[in-house]
Amino acid sequence: MSAVKLDLLLETQRLERCPFPIPVGWFFAAYSDSLSPGEVRNINFLNQEWVLFRGENGKAGITDPYCPHLGAHLGHGGKVVGDNIRCTFHHWEYDTEGFCKAIPYAKVMPPICKKQPVLRTLPVVERYGMIWAWYHPKAEDPQWELPAIPEMEEPGHVKPRRWTGSVNTAIQEVAENGVDNVHLKYLHGAPIVPPTEAWFDGHTMRIDIGHGYIIGDMYGPGLNVMRFTKDGVTATMVSYSVPITREKTQMNMSFTYKDYPQGTKERAIAEHLVAHSIGEAEGESSAGFESVDMIVWNNKKYRAKPLLCDGDGQIVKYRQWFKQFYPGLETSEKI
Ligand code: FES
Ligand SMILES: [Fe+2]
Repeated sequence: MSAVKLDLLLETQRLERCPFPIPVGWFFAAYSDSLSPGEVRNINFLNQEWVLFRGENGKAGITDPYCPHLGAHLGHGGKVVGDNIRCTFHHWEYDTEGFCKAIPYAKVMPPICKKQPVLRTLPVVERYGMIWAWYHPKAEDPQWELPAIPEMEEPGHVKPRRWTGSVNTAIQEVAENGVDNVHLKYLHGAPIVPPTEAWFDGHTMRIDIGHGYIIGDMYGPGLNVMRFTKDGVTATMVSYSVPITREKTQMNMSFTYKDYPQGTKERAIAEHLVAHSIGEAEGESSAGFESVDMIVWNNKKYRAKPLLCDGDGQIVKYRQWFKQFYPGLETSEKI
């Protein structure tokens, strides 16, 4: 039997659904307004459990759950004391950087406590009303900053409408949709395959779908700002997917636009653009990521060497760009 035929016979066993590690980047952890000072919460994302807390000074922290002392879980019985999180077992305290700040019964603190963090934490920033965590598998410092999104940060825009869903695939697969313009016609029912261009620059990617109808800007794997423009009116969809595990992605979105007065044509267009992108526009079968994409994502397998044709757009370039977010895996055959 030829090698090609044998390869085909073993296809189902050979292909993996999600052969990717958790990528590097800034990821959404929680909405800022969901976490009050003094609150402690366990969260699952980035393929493990973490403890999220907010100190009395308002600063949020995300730590590994297990106390460096004797391993108690900081998210079960742990409390915020001042600006630190205090372990329930022997009351050791840690700050948002992972430094041990107090041991109530120690006459001499272990010398290491002065020098370095003893608990793993993630770098955290708050932007756009959200808590963001920087993830790097080797805990390296952030390699870029989150961008300004005026629609989310400046007055004069409607309160963002939020949407959340979950899909059983890796974040790379979800984001590949952006460069896959062909599926917009065949899966989503767009009247034509919209002309699409993409540009890749460092950690950013820009896509233009339909000659300016949609401009999408990706900033690493965890943030995608898409602006839909029609008749001079722009609606913004900010998408911030986050890997929960290697095979599960939480998709989060916020929709907003300029606060045009009620009853104006501009307001109606903006509302329609949001309805269209969320898949609620009346009498339309197009757009709508909620159902049709989910069926594909939840059931597909990743093909590292896809069979492509000349109309397939920039899938290969996108995948090459995405590889930078898996440091140390440049030579992997599977990805
Ligand atoms: S295990 Fe956390 S203080 Fe002892
Ligand atoms: Fe899609």
